[in-house]
Amino acid sequence: MVRKIVKYGNPVLEEMCKPVAEEEFGSEDLRSLVSDMFETMYQARGVGLAAPQVGVLKRLTVIDCSGGEGEAQPHILINPEIVSQEGTQVGSEGCLSIPGFTGNVSRPMTVCTRYRTVDGDWGELEGEELLARVICHENDHLNGVLFLRHLSKLKRGMIKKKIRALRKQGEWD
Ligand code: NI
Repeated sequence: MVRKIVKYGNPVLEEMCKPVAEEEFGSEDLRSLVSDMFETMYQARGVGLAAPQVGVLKRLTVIDCSGGEGEAQPHILINPEIVSQEGTQVGSEGCLSIPGFTGNVSRPMTVCTRYRTVDGDWGELEGEELLARVICHENDHLNGVLFLRHLSKLKRGMIKKKIRALRKQGEWD
């Protein structure tokens, strides 16, 4: 089921998410949340989605850098932690909760993350370039941090102003 993506301005996007609890691993609820999140992300043509973006304050992200084109490369990261990172890359970044806006963000070139699977097993994923960027972006969401926070004050102010105007026109909900 495709869920509604929460947009910037909703306080749920700036809250700290809670870890998925032991008793939730392997549950039908967790499986359907993950499947809904993939469906929602693919429909929106995104490469990553974090649970707070569908209004769920849990430490869970889904990622697929293929963007739904070509061979799928799905990753489910539950209670992820970035254990190492190396280098830097600067590139354009956007967010499904802030549609229509992008900005240049500096991220590590490679990251390694440890996470739990839906069944509660431990996994490790190393990402480079785009995958590293998406892992960091989605991980930020779990701490209530949006990519806007990584932009210059000037750029962030410009985007916020445009969003305020869109909201006034009823084009941002
Ligand atoms: Ni995002």
